[in-house]
Amino acid sequence: MEKLALEGGKKLQGSVKVSGFKNAVLPIMAATVLCGDRCVIENVPMIKDVKILAEILKALGATAEFTADGILEIDTKNLTNREAPHEFAKKLRASYYLLGVTIGRFGEANVSYPGGCNIGTRPIDQHIKGFEALGCDVSIEHGVIKCRTEKLEGTKIYLDVESIGATINIMLGAVFADGQTIIENSAKEPHVVDTANFLNAMGADIKGAGTDVIRINGVEKLHGCTYSVIPDQIEAGTYMIAAAATGGDVLIQDVIPKHLESVTAKLREMGVVVEEFDDAVRVKVETDLKGINVKTLPYPGFPTDLQQPLSTLLAVTKGTSIVTESIFESRFKYVDELKKMGAMIKVDGKTSVISGVDALDGTTISVTDLRAGAACIVAGLVAKGTTKIEDIYHIERGYDRIVEKLRGLGASIECIDE
Ligand code: EPZ
Repeated sequence: MEKLALEGGKKLQGSVKVSGFKNAVLPIMAATVLCGDRCVIENVPMIKDVKILAEILKALGATAEFTADGILEIDTKNLTNREAPHEFAKKLRASYYLLGVTIGRFGEANVSYPGGCNIGTRPIDQHIKGFEALGCDVSIEHGVIKCRTEKLEGTKIYLDVESIGATINIMLGAVFADGQTIIENSAKEPHVVDTANFLNAMGADIKGAGTDVIRINGVEKLHGCTYSVIPDQIEAGTYMIAAAATGGDVLIQDVIPKHLESVTAKLREMGVVVEEFDDAVRVKVETDLKGINVKTLPYPGFPTDLQQPLSTLLAVTKGTSIVTESIFESRFKYVDELKKMGAMIKVDGKTSVISGVDALDGTTISVTDLRAGAACIVAGLVAKGTTKIEDIYHIERGYDRIVEKLRGLGASIECIDE
């Protein structure tokens, strides 16, 4: 079984390039189903979730080929199938976007319940609420979500939760709806904006993405386009945290500093030096760091996807820190793994109390979900001795060439087969 083996104690030094954003490229890839034309998507990360979604698109009859590093050409002119293979759809959360695009293109959708990280119940009631409001009949039969409609009618939809997935999915389903669709209390994340920008580049008419009210005026048809995906702010934040944890000095390139403001603010509060440039941030440690309190929030608040690696940094930072996970109800599974290494963390519901220790001890730990994998890697980078990390397929879903990138920064990390 493949594992990662890390020798802790090396300061990360040098520069690393961030790849395209996993949570933006996935809805963008799905959105190509709406245009029935050829699209060229640039800055695509080489990650498992992208490969699986490309396989799903090919199973629908599309072509989806990498023509160069990071450039994916998709042509959805001749779709011969309307139903994604269920075994593929179950492998990733983002398969739920197939609902919005197949409803938009065909007026019907059959998509099995999405997979994804085991960080909570992860309902899709807001997605279904949106599709019903657009005029769909929705039923769930044997784990398959079935949607049917004769005609998509624009309407006003109020989201009970600022759901990124629901916001994007409803946007996808509303592109061809008659009249105007208004999504209120919509998620404001950069990947919502990136997906809206991609849809507009294909000829859609969407305004307000990035605010809590998005207006979609229905259009007749979309056309292909060429589009470059925004940088992955979660990958960037992970390297910022790893640089701080190892006491290193790292330039993280190809980022949008604005998207990292909450991470920069919390690291600065700890005493980390963060310098911002046009498309890069530099992270270094010049003094002892101190513990902080952090609460995960929808954008522009501190992102839930960085709660886990940040907690590893706090676990080796002097002082007591309190972490509140307000987005998902079960995103502390990695804590048991860090405690095997000597971390002093108490979890109570949605809150964890971290008492910083001088050092973690290397041992064998396992990954429970994608971002828990990041927490484990940061732990291995700072621990004394050797850390072996199992179940690394979670990490491969969302971190592009992370072993190569960390080695480029001087980490002692390798993939072994035991
Ligand atoms: C997306 O998940 C991301 N996944 C997650 O990234 C990320 O953690 C999450 O957004 C929050 O930022 C993808 O983009 C593929 P939500 P999603 O709908 O869309 C509740 C990673 O590590 N909710 O914004 O599932 C939900 O339970 C992954 O890259 C409902 O109640 O997140 C949660 O508490 C992990 N009903 C909150 O809203 C719904 O219909 C936010 O969920 C939908 C969501």
